[in-house]
Amino acid sequence: MYTQKVINIFKNPKNAGGLHGANATSKVTDNSCGDIIKLYLKVNEEGIIEEAKFKTFGCTASIASSSMLCDMVKGLSIEEAEEITANDVLEELGGLPAEKVHCASLVEEALREAIADYFKRLEKELKKQQAEEE
Ligand code: FES
Repeated sequence: MYTQKVINIFKNPKNAGGLHGANATSKVTDNSCGDIIKLYLKVNEEGIIEEAKFKTFGCTASIASSSMLCDMVKGLSIEEAEEITANDVLEELGGLPAEKVHCASLVEEALREAIADYFKRLEKELKKQQAEEE
């Protein structure tokens, strides 16, 4: 059984959609069920996540987990967002049925990959700046 909170978020996933100007993105797939989560973060120059959106092709739990994660990371620094785990998402949702716990893990994986993408882009940008200065 889903909690009322999960059902409400699923019916009105306010963070659904793409994000213009996203500078940290990821796409993860759960190979067992086939659910796909795309995560888009917009991180400002101070390293704060200003906006977060998702596109999820999957079940009720993966959509609700994706939207909840977006709410949770908005306003956090990248370092603070790195601390968020699947358990935190589960807690915020009021739990998920046992067979759906992996949906929250998939969201955590999407977050990890988006953060890795952010640092990769940052490094590339720094190298570019250094090359221009030389
Ligand atoms: Fe697999 Fe939701 S059923 S991520």
